[in-house]
Amino acid sequence: MEILKTELELNNWVKNQHANTTKIGFVPTMGALHEGHIYLVKQSVKQELATIVSIFVNPKQFNNASDLNKYPITIEADIKLLKKSGCNALFIPTIDIIYPSYFLPIKLDLGILDKVLEGPKRPGHFNGVAQVVYRLFKMVNPDKAFFGLKDFQQCKVIKLLASHFFTNIKIELCPTIRHKSGLAMSSRNMRLSDNGKKRASLIYKTLNVIKNLNNAIEPKDAIKYGKHLLAENNIEVEYLELANSKTLDSWIVWQPEKQNILLIAAYIEGVRLIDNIQF
Ligand code: PAF
Repeated sequence: MEILKTELELNNWVKNQHANTTKIGFVPTMGALHEGHIYLVKQSVKQELATIVSIFVNPKQFNNASDLNKYPITIEADIKLLKKSGCNALFIPTIDIIYPSYFLPIKLDLGILDKVLEGPKRPGHFNGVAQVVYRLFKMVNPDKAFFGLKDFQQCKVIKLLASHFFTNIKIELCPTIRHKSGLAMSSRNMRLSDNGKKRASLIYKTLNVIKNLNNAIEPKDAIKYGKHLLAENNIEVEYLELANSKTLDSWIVWQPEKQNILLIAAYIEGVRLIDNIQF
């Protein structure tokens, strides 16, 4: 696996792939890699794409400085995992490469995506995601890019970005990878104690409880019950909502089959976790 640290090294790698008419698969990350990221890498490798991962902790997407400072950095372990995964190149840019002095932020109207769920809770977050992914897509110029559906709302933002600026890049959305307990894999889980991890598994279990009440009782009552189960275990819910998975606007009635999505953000031991379930 090649490790690319400068824009020149990246450009040369990209040129070499094009010279060999090899298509490029791209997995942008912020590091602290886990099996969820590796699943994305393996999807790309399986499709015989020259697979490149980026690791860049993007300050523009953190609306909270202490959240940014606490973001885990595990670069040596990340490199080890990537080497085993079949990844061909790792791009580790510095902040000046991503945001050079001449960098002009793109304008992308996020519409409803910035107004619901994560949007109002993390002001500026999705704009920050759009800026960094725009820069990375411009530099890497992949044929395909892979994202995990745990960050469902982010996936919608990326699709919107691609539809405006990168119609040549195919966006592949991959399922959430979970621990046996049901807990969605996330870099943030590293900050939880064993007890915290155990309690965190109740998030997905609760989403399933609500899902199973689908059409038996009204969504608001099912959600109220879910919140009660979580509160009993000292899990502080920031939001827990039913939405339509196509539009992401929130609903007080169950949606047609396969268009329901329950989305949650909750705090355990001060760590903010998100998850969702579609049905
Ligand atoms: O999902 C992430 O890890 C980040 O939001 C992304 C897409 C790499 C942009 O920094």
